[in-house]
Amino acid sequence: MKHVTRSTIVAGAVVIGVAGILLSTALAQRPGRGTGRGQGDSQLEKPPVPKNDNEKKILGILDDILERQRYRNVPPQDGRLLRILTESMNAKNVVEIGTSTGYSGIWFGMALQKTGGKLTTFEIDAGRAATARANFKRAGMADIITIVEGDAHDEVKKLKDTIDILFLDADKEGYVDYLNKLLPLVRPGGLIIAHNINPRMADPKYIEAITTNPNLETIVRTEVGLTLKKG
Ligand SMILES: C[S@@+](CC[C@H](N)C(=O)[O-])C[C@H]1O[C@@H](n2cnc3c(N)ncnc32)[C@H](O)[C@@H]1O
Repeated sequence: MKHVTRSTIVAGAVVIGVAGILLSTALAQRPGRGTGRGQGDSQLEKPPVPKNDNEKKILGILDDILERQRYRNVPPQDGRLLRILTESMNAKNVVEIGTSTGYSGIWFGMALQKTGGKLTTFEIDAGRAATARANFKRAGMADIITIVEGDAHDEVKKLKDTIDILFLDADKEGYVDYLNKLLPLVRPGGLIIAHNINPRMADPKYIEAITTNPNLETIVRTEVGLTLKKG
């Protein structure tokens, strides 16, 4: 695998209402020097083992995107985490800010094919949106992934449905605005997952927003072996 920028995922869970306490799951991933299939720094981690032909095909497309169409995509290890979180919480509605060429979107799509859910993903760059659209089609996910082209700061205002997972992976200084606009739609027990949460890249205002709100539980880094029983 080509060198990938070190990055961190942070996931927060939201508690809304009187009775609820919702745990949050969060994992920080350091992209590894392993294979394009997502072997990270841990020597204990291995590439995914496809369960069937469809999964094999999709993993091949993911490798191909990193090989030929890479543009600031999440590292494979983070993509695997997104897939695990999405399928394990049986997410039906995922919103992603920052599509790029569709790499993380396809990891979400793998899970959503199992949960019967959908992804709405926002991209400001028309060229990358077109590439992503073609990738979703060849992955057989055109029917479950919608790309919204334009400035997500404006476009997200049109969202109405309850969100299970909100994934922030676009302009870092915009995370607070996305949070403010979309937190009311995130369901109790839902996840807000933000990429590139590290001292160099994270907006301190976003960190403050997710770590001082008593309705949110956030962790940035945990070493956990997380295993999904696939659907
Ligand atoms: C880090 S890349 C996303 C990578 C993608 N999530 C993946 O892993 O494959 C960030 C993307 O966000 C897009 N972006 C930046 N600002 C945006 C905005 N205001 N609205 C929509 N998209 C934006 C950029 O054009 C870029 O393609």
